Amino acid sequence: MQHEPGTTKFQIDLRRHLREQNICDNLVHLICEIAEAGKYVINAVRTGDLGVAGTSNLYGEEQLALDVLSDRIIRKRLIHSGVVCNVLSEEMDEVLQVKPEAAGLYSVAYDPLDGSSLVDVNLAVGTIVSIYSGCDLLQVGRKQVAALYILYGPRVSLVYSVGKGVHEFTMNHLMEYTLTRENITMQPAGNIYAPGGQRNKYCEGVERFVRYLEAKGAKLRYSGGFVPDINQVLLKGKGIFMYPALNGSPDGKLRLLFELNPMAYLVEQAGGAASNGRMPILDIRPEGYDQRVPIFIGCREDVEKALEFVNEA
Ligand code: F6P
Ligand code: MN
Repeated sequence: MQHEPGTTKFQIDLRRHLREQNICDNLVHLICEIAEAGKYVINAVRTGDLGVAGTSNLYGEEQLALDVLSDRIIRKRLIHSGVVCNVLSEEMDEVLQVKPEAAGLYSVAYDPLDGSSLVDVNLAVGTIVSIYSGCDLLQVGRKQVAALYILYGPRVSLVYSVGKGVHEFTMNHLMEYTLTRENITMQPAGNIYAPGGQRNKYCEGVERFVRYLEAKGAKLRYSGGFVPDINQVLLKGKGIFMYPALNGSPDGKLRLLFELNPMAYLVEQAGGAASNGRMPILDIRPEGYDQRVPIFIGCREDVEKALEFVNEA
């Protein structure tokens, strides 16, 4: 991308960067609205009630007050954006039809506050968003037109792709998102691993893969928050995150629509890979909104190595 003379890349804000991607104005608007919602979510995370909401989501998980609030903040923004037809989040019971299908509208699947149970111990959490053109939310992930996450850590950052590379923005003291890294690219292989779930429930192939990683001196870097854990692998450009099938949970834990598709889209855009052990995450045809899928995601060669171990066993 060509920038005006005298403009350092640190002064480029999100809206301007999006405009330079040559995408539809509605998509620019939609992503900016989600980014705005993030400012209210971080405020809720920093100062809001840490208790339970007294309700549970569709999956029977107890909702925290922060889950419910973050969901409302983002949903309201989406409803009022004027460019959205269908909306579904991990905290909603059913698809919300905001507008009937029409040209130029988008559908959004999102996880409003992933890792919310980590807020009370002051660890990083995030919002994950997947965007499709039109009203169908049950498409393969490869059909996404954009994906992003907002990470609420010591700093707030937003990482997005509209299929033209992966770019990171960081919130400055004026609460503006300014460009901090453009065209993030991952190395072919790395030495970090982030393994989700209990190890004594891993299948033999995954257990052997972990032993292989330990033997080659890879560093364990796992916070238990999907967004910061993926952010580390993606931005350092090295390593692998996995949440494999567990004994008793053959589909793992993480959800295809709200968590895995958007992250797989971003990681593939950065030259990495994401697989469920048999096929790329982005090629899985979803059978339901709540589908869970095992995942191996990160540097291409590290994911290939994981698949070798899993498929050998
Ligand atoms: O969405 C659920 C989540 O909190 C993710 O952020 C994280 O990757 C995962 O669960 C951690 O699960 P576990 O504690 O089983 O490793
Ligand atoms: Mn989640």
